[in-house]
Amino acid sequence: MKNAMKIFCCGSNPDLAEQVCTRLGLELSPLAISRFSNDNLSVQILESVREKDVFVFQSLAEPVSHNLVTLLITLDALRSASAGRITAVIPYYSYARSDKKDAPRISITARLIADLLKTSGADRVLTMDLHSDQVHGFFSMPVDHLTAIPLLADYVKSHYDTENLVAVATDAGGAKRAAHFAELAGLSLAIIDKRRISDTEVQQGHVVGEVEGRDVLIFDDEISTGGTILKTVETLKKAGVRDILVGAVHPVLCGPAIQRLKNLDIQGLLVSNTVDVPPEKELPGLQIISAAPLIAEAIKRIHTGDSIGELFH
Ligand code: R5P
Repeated sequence: MKNAMKIFCCGSNPDLAEQVCTRLGLELSPLAISRFSNDNLSVQILESVREKDVFVFQSLAEPVSHNLVTLLITLDALRSASAGRITAVIPYYSYARSDKKDAPRISITARLIADLLKTSGADRVLTMDLHSDQVHGFFSMPVDHLTAIPLLADYVKSHYDTENLVAVATDAGGAKRAAHFAELAGLSLAIIDKRRISDTEVQQGHVVGEVEGRDVLIFDDEISTGGTILKTVETLKKAGVRDILVGAVHPVLCGPAIQRLKNLDIQGLLVSNTVDVPPEKELPGLQIISAAPLIAEAIKRIHTGDSIGELFH
């Protein structure tokens, strides 16, 4: 696009948005978010965006509803202010987990939120590691779906002895993702049979693959309440593994996650910064690998109209 680029942050990814701006040689553009006495939100864009190529950062992390509504209002304000093109940069799209009708009378909310983004003024979306690939198809506008898996795999290859290391998928649904990670990091793969009992509890069965006497790296798309990791560590210990590392793209770390992970016998926890990790959630052994170089490159190519296909894998 010929017109200048502007980057805004609605509040949930300030560090990531700053890092991206630094790489692009830009300053974050200002906006003001306030609340009326009746609790309604208000967003004001504090500089002209007329005909500009605008990117707005906001992960749908806690407080999810507040962050979502702030993003929707910001998109609407940008459209009303005659922005040339608006890209919603959503490093973590939490509602991707609501991607199917697996109980009676529920909403497929991942599609609803995609519709709301469009209605509010987004022309396109840039996101990372959606919980399931098919969520991409819920959007009726262009979506660039990036992955942080190569960044995490590179980190593992350059910081750990991968000779004796096995990647472990926490369930069959995550096997394709963990296999991608394993392939890039040069590891073999094991898969665990998992069933979800409730939002915070899971049950696990057999380990499919050779793990006894090996070091393992449990790989998942996100760590939410930590229930999956807790159970996976238990299952792998029973199966006779040695050292345990944990890797995930999205460090959601909500509810009992910190309590659960704090005393867990693991040698490291590798995540990206699609969700901000406040100091009180910085667990021992936590390594945050920044997705800023990848997102900055994608934004640059969206702006110049160059292909970003090679960044998807
Ligand atoms: C589930 O299918 C996902 O891939 C993750 O395993 C899940 O979101 C982790 O949630 P929690 O940490 O609450 O077990």
